Amino acid sequence: MNKKEVKQRIELLKKEIEHHRYLYHVRDIQEISDAALDSLKKELFDLEQQYPEYITPNSPTQRVAGEPLAQFTKVTHSHRMLSLNDAFSREDMEEWVARMERFLPEANFSFFVEPKIDGLAMNLTYKNGELVVASTRGNGYVGEDVTVNIRTIQSVPLQLRDIPVIRHVDTVEIRGEVYMTKQSFNAVNTEREKAGEPLYMNPRNLAAGSIRQLDPHLTASRDLRFLAYALPTDLGQKTHAEEHKLLESMGFRTDPLCRVCTSIDDVMKMYGEMQKKRDALPYQIDGMVIMVNDNALFTRLGVVGKAPRGSVALKFPAEQATTVVEAIDVQVGRTGVLTPVAHLRPVRVAGTMVKRATLHNMDEIRRLDVRVGDTVVIQKAGDIIPDIVEVLKKMRSGKPRTWQMPKRCPLCNALVQQPEGEVAFYCTNPDCDGKHREQLYHFVSKHAFDIEGLGPKIIDQLVEQDLIATPADIFTLTEEDLVPLERFAEQSAHNLLESIRERTTISLARFLYALGIRHVGEQMAHTLADEFKTLDAFLQASAEDIDVIPRIGPAAVKSIAEYLSNPKHQKMLKALREHLTIQKVKTNASGKLSGTSFLFTGALSHMTREEAKERVQALGGKTAVSVTAELSYLVVGDKPGSKLTKAEKLGVTVLSEDEFLKIVSV
Ligand code: IVH
Repeated sequence: MNKKEVKQRIELLKKEIEHHRYLYHVRDIQEISDAALDSLKKELFDLEQQYPEYITPNSPTQRVAGEPLAQFTKVTHSHRMLSLNDAFSREDMEEWVARMERFLPEANFSFFVEPKIDGLAMNLTYKNGELVVASTRGNGYVGEDVTVNIRTIQSVPLQLRDIPVIRHVDTVEIRGEVYMTKQSFNAVNTEREKAGEPLYMNPRNLAAGSIRQLDPHLTASRDLRFLAYALPTDLGQKTHAEEHKLLESMGFRTDPLCRVCTSIDDVMKMYGEMQKKRDALPYQIDGMVIMVNDNALFTRLGVVGKAPRGSVALKFPAEQATTVVEAIDVQVGRTGVLTPVAHLRPVRVAGTMVKRATLHNMDEIRRLDVRVGDTVVIQKAGDIIPDIVEVLKKMRSGKPRTWQMPKRCPLCNALVQQPEGEVAFYCTNPDCDGKHREQLYHFVSKHAFDIEGLGPKIIDQLVEQDLIATPADIFTLTEEDLVPLERFAEQSAHNLLESIRERTTISLARFLYALGIRHVGEQMAHTLADEFKTLDAFLQASAEDIDVIPRIGPAAVKSIAEYLSNPKHQKMLKALREHLTIQKVKTNASGKLSGTSFLFTGALSHMTREEAKERVQALGGKTAVSVTAELSYLVVGDKPGSKLTKAEKLGVTVLSEDEFLKIVSV
């Protein structure tokens, strides 16, 4: 063969092999024997070895694992990766629909229903049809680049099938689940058992363990699969059902059990059927994903917290087991809350050994009437710490005493108090050792400062040696402090200081989350950071400034305001800032409403007020609570109130709803 012929032959082989890969791994069809396919692959491999200039990254030979990585790089998702709220019953489902109807009264919903596979969510980015990045969900905003590993999965196309709609876009994003069949899962565990290695808990852990590790050879050795379930890129799809059709024509496997249901009755019927089929399916499912089928409605329904309002995970009943409560004690959290915890006789539930269950609070203990020595039913769903759902009272022997919340903190002996109107009991000592330690643990934890090598054990040691008391002290540690300590040598001291130093530049959202303010979780920290942009702006915020931010409830507003006005916290923040560079959140300068503010009065007819505010913010604008001369626009709906008169007096621009809609429609 001359060079031209070689090139042609390579192209033919690639096409043929790709065709069989697709049939086999996506469509479950086998047209030629394994031996015949192997022989085609061998010929391609040999030719490419002779003519390496003809090797392309998407050749079937390039699915083999490359060099192990030193570490994962981070990828910022262009569309945030959300999670789902759970539902467990018809009642929950009806409530969900009622919530949506309140939000969009005029809408008529039908639902796309698909099995919820127990695996690892993955985002695939294709540029000009070729796979360029595969990333994990991470915190929803930023994930890890695991492309080298994902390339080894045969059901992931390295190249999209050419369909007309993708010719007009250069980037296509695909979402789906990487998972493992029950059979392959069992095979891996059998091997591990023989080798005396610890077993994997469930297929999801195994799938995650195979992807979130640095050696692609290991990934390749595991029989992983990919099922696509969403297409964040707009290719003109009007419904989720159409989205699945598009995914299939681009060359992805989708779940054949998906269906459109027109009512909650239909959904519940399918739920019943699925529960029966569940054990016979080749992969593990833990429920069903239900989403509003109409994409325009789905988008309008927006996001609440980390989950889209337009979808829900209808879970199968959690797994249960019975065991005995051996003791009840309390844990002191970083906000000083005392949480009762039951210590259980160890028992296996949903694949894991359970030794403890949370009892939440005193009300819960009274409701269950749980006492030490009781036989109880515990329940576990997913990764959540198990709950006690019932006490088997007939099995009670003797007269076990009811449990009481301790009067004094078990860690610092200070008085315990229950504030009016709250269910929680708190340690009253602002300097409670337990509280401080929990705060420090939280401060360095993965989603906060993420300081490698500074876990609870080391923190305990540093606190006991009086080397640290507040977060700021972490940044003044020196090698001389650490080297004399047990567990430290020069190298490990050096490493720890290095990882502390690496974290002295931090995003505002992480920083706010790390402070451990009550009610401020990761999600809210992001909202606050997006709103205030700089730490200074946040520190100067009044309760009213915080109150106007959608998605922040009154309890959080109160707790943030209290936190900020506490002189101790102000002092701590001042000390902390000296060691840190806190990154400013970039303003949405491209947002067409940046620099403007909106206020609404009267009833809107095309959207709810909440939805209107979200639109403004999505475009970089602000929303205000009262009419001031600084306000850019007052939007007037039906039956406006006194705000209109005031706006007119101050010369604020007044918009009708239609004018407003024109501004925010993109
Ligand atoms: S749709 C907003 N469909 O479940 C997230 N998710 O709890 C929309 N999952 O992170 C996801 N099967 O990893 C969707 N058919 C399916 C799914 C599915 C499994 C996972 C996914 C997601 C998690 C959400």
